[in-house]
Amino acid sequence: MPIDLSAVSAAEFTDEGSLVRQLASQAQWFTDHYDAIRADAEKLVLALRRSGKKSPVEAFMGEYGLDSREGVAILCLAEALLRIPDAETADTLIKGSFKEAQWLKHLGRSDSLWVNASTWGLMLTGGIVQVSDMAEGGIGALFGRLAGRIGEPVVREALKAGMRLIGGQFVLGETIEDAIAQSEAPWRYSYDLLGEGARTDGQSEAYAKAYAQAIARIAASKEAKAATIWERPSLSIKLSALHPRYELVKRETMIPEMMARLKPLLIATRDAGVMATIDAEESYRLDLSLMIFEKLGHDPDFKGYDGLGLAVQAYQTRALHVIGWLAELAKKTGRRIPLRLVKGAYWDAEIKRAQVLGLPGYPVFTRKEATDASYLACARAIIEEGNAFYPQFATHNALTVTSILHLLRQRRGAAYEFQRLHGMGEGLYEALGQDVPCRVYAPVGPHKDLLAYLIRRLLENGANTSFVHLLVDTSLPLELLLADPLKKLRGYLPGIDLPVALYGTDRRNSQGLDFGNISVLKRLDEALRMRPSETALKPADASAGECETALAQAKQFFPAWDETSALKRAVILEKAAGLIESRREDFLAMLASEAGKTLADGIAEVREAADMCRYYAAQARRLFLSPESLVGPTGEHNGLRLRGRGVFVCISPWNFPLAIFTGQVAAALAAGNAVIAKPAEETPLIAMEAVRLLHEAGIPREALQLVPGDGTVGAALVGDVRVAGVAFTGSTEVAFSINRALAARNAPLASLIAETGGMNAMIVDSSALLEQACDDIMLSAFGSAGQRCSSLRVLYAQRDIADDLLRLLEGAMARLQLGDPPDPATDIGPVISAEAKEMLVRHAEKMKKEARLVAVAKAPDAGGHFFPPHLFEIQKMAQLPGEVFGPILHMIRYDHEALDGVIADINATGYGLTFGIHSRIIDRAQRIASRIRAGNCYIN
Ligand code: FAD
Ligand code: 2OP
Repeated sequence: MPIDLSAVSAAEFTDEGSLVRQLASQAQWFTDHYDAIRADAEKLVLALRRSGKKSPVEAFMGEYGLDSREGVAILCLAEALLRIPDAETADTLIKGSFKEAQWLKHLGRSDSLWVNASTWGLMLTGGIVQVSDMAEGGIGALFGRLAGRIGEPVVREALKAGMRLIGGQFVLGETIEDAIAQSEAPWRYSYDLLGEGARTDGQSEAYAKAYAQAIARIAASKEAKAATIWERPSLSIKLSALHPRYELVKRETMIPEMMARLKPLLIATRDAGVMATIDAEESYRLDLSLMIFEKLGHDPDFKGYDGLGLAVQAYQTRALHVIGWLAELAKKTGRRIPLRLVKGAYWDAEIKRAQVLGLPGYPVFTRKEATDASYLACARAIIEEGNAFYPQFATHNALTVTSILHLLRQRRGAAYEFQRLHGMGEGLYEALGQDVPCRVYAPVGPHKDLLAYLIRRLLENGANTSFVHLLVDTSLPLELLLADPLKKLRGYLPGIDLPVALYGTDRRNSQGLDFGNISVLKRLDEALRMRPSETALKPADASAGECETALAQAKQFFPAWDETSALKRAVILEKAAGLIESRREDFLAMLASEAGKTLADGIAEVREAADMCRYYAAQARRLFLSPESLVGPTGEHNGLRLRGRGVFVCISPWNFPLAIFTGQVAAALAAGNAVIAKPAEETPLIAMEAVRLLHEAGIPREALQLVPGDGTVGAALVGDVRVAGVAFTGSTEVAFSINRALAARNAPLASLIAETGGMNAMIVDSSALLEQACDDIMLSAFGSAGQRCSSLRVLYAQRDIADDLLRLLEGAMARLQLGDPPDPATDIGPVISAEAKEMLVRHAEKMKKEARLVAVAKAPDAGGHFFPPHLFEIQKMAQLPGEVFGPILHMIRYDHEALDGVIADINATGYGLTFGIHSRIIDRAQRIASRIRAGNCYIN
């Protein structure tokens, strides 16, 4: 019987204030004993500061915090420099990173020789790069000569060595053999094979192989012969390394595949008699990791094995629930769970994800003191569970350590350990002495796999809330360093506004769903299943008489709507936004059945529709509420006032049947126009529902009338002299014909706002992080089955990284699931019609003859207009006939020197709706963006 996860997942977005009040009462023991705990911590810190013992990284990041330009420059270089294959791009990155850094002020400030030596190095290399720049302009002759003599290659190699040195501080060895050889008693070790966030099966298989080899080596080591499993070395595993789609929505196929890779590894650790701990990763993977962990717990192959461990993040608002759930699992399966309690390493990413997705709250606490208090409350819960757990307290915070020791004193004899990360906290645990057992989390692997881990460590060590960062600042008084976190909880106010308040007072953020939360998925599934199965009948096309009535009514009503205050119009639109969101599940079902939209695309669309209403409401307030005052030279009042133009015809496409439809209509209404809305002939039902809600919100029926039909209905409307404006989204040809029809009338000039197609391109240079680029390319080219006006059509990849990028894309495409749109596991639904599919098949056939087919996704077994994503490599843009509306991506390699030609080729297509850049070089990205002619330019 599975243990109910709903209490865990439902707690994710509990109000932070009430959670914190609970925490405060659960951690009351801490307040009661604070003086003693603090006194112990103070002794530790003083001893530590006296000994001067700190790791090079602690000292280095203590000096170069992330609130300084220099700290950020180091972070940027550490992230990118070593993975850039070509010298030109590496040099450009170096110049950009050093532009505004001032190394001199850091010199001699630290008492660490390592830091000062590094500062000298950075200063020299930084100085040389800057001076060589100046020398090009004929200035700085002396240093220019020096730079000329040393040359950029030397600077580059010196900096690469520096970055390797920083990275190397966090890695115990490049191979498991090295790492085991480097391990030192009395520390215990948990070896972590670097690698996470796989995008392809190839990567996952390679990581699984590395884990297997590591286990064999660990098992053979003499340390593995220690008396108890707790004293032996162990292994840490990141599940995201073992499967490219480690996502809750994929659980049905993913879990068995994950098990096929994971179980042999755990059987090997079982046979070796060592522990394996599953690391905690992003919060959206928590429920999934618990499901997998539960499966392992019940597996008879692991009966009696007390080495199956899990990391729990105290910064998650669900942490205490997770511990309760795990305790139940331990009891039910009669096993002891090694439980590593950490605070959590993904905080910034968690906050941003919640805001972008419009989640109801944050999955993590928003103030450091709440995380600290949660850690204490969790520690106590773990200890109180007795033999359910083998507690492993992972922290580098002296106050946290002495608090736990205080708790443990009450349970003498119980087995436990502390843990620290390699390169951190060494002095702290040395100061505690050998009676306090401590395990070192020891990453193992080559630098290329270190990046994600390294960035988390640099963020952790450089953050101004971090204990290790503050510890090395000897000027910081102990009162601040060892302040009582619980005291700070009194009168707690969250540190960050909720995601709904992302746009401040301007407008509410729209609401999204967390697909990583099992309760959310279940509720969605129920809501979709509860809907009545019969669908409404498609409305008949409007007759000529109906068009006439609509036009006459709109014309007659326009002055009344125009005179309605902008405030009232805004309030109605905001109400409509709320109504649209409250009917989300209905829209999701309609979007799936009428337009073939997947659930994820559907949610994005409902959000966009609500955003449109709120955005134009805010615009109405800003632009229409009161006249803008102009100077009155003689004392007269001059004002500039905006008002509606008259009858607006809004003609929208099928690809965003709710969002674009609503956006056009809301904009026209906000501005005081009377609107006739003609939706795409493929998707009138969604439009009908949107109009119904707009009326319900308070838009008068005469101000907004739906006139369904095909192109002939649209043509009849735009040819009428009563029309004052047209908002159109669709093909360029139709936009031209509307323009001609409007011009042919003997009527006041109408305004035409047209959003049409174009060739959307992206440039990925060799400084880009390819995994990130791959994610964005997949989403942009194949999301919504490539049927967005904004979809990526042509990818330009710098030759130096093109093959690596293609390999990633090919692997990611092999994992795309085409299928039934309302199934949450579906990545891509059908294209809109049989004709659309035929057109795509024809283009693909032509391309197969003229270009290289790199990859095709798997077509589904189901019937329907499915067209699997294709990736072709072509030689030049001119090979393409123009925009091909569907999931076909074309890729072109370019040489670094040919970048200007690439920009010219992209601009020669006329116009792009969107354009993307993936680069770490800000100046380069901005230079490209300033020269590309596209509607939206996305710099990643
Ligand atoms: P402190 O400086 O006392 O605390 C830092 C914590 O406070 C961080 O979690 C940070 O996110 C949080 N914080 C900072 N500002 C705020 C704020 N405004 N609101 C709320 N919280 C805030 N991390 C994982 O995620 N998964 C793992 O599997 C994992 N394994 C680890 C294993 C070991 C052996 C160790 C030592 C660490 C591991 N970590 C893991 C990393 C760990 O999360 C960090 O090292 C830890 O958070 C640092 O805590 P501290 O007590 O040393 O430092
Ligand atoms: C991390 O990878 C240590 O698991 C932790 O950041």
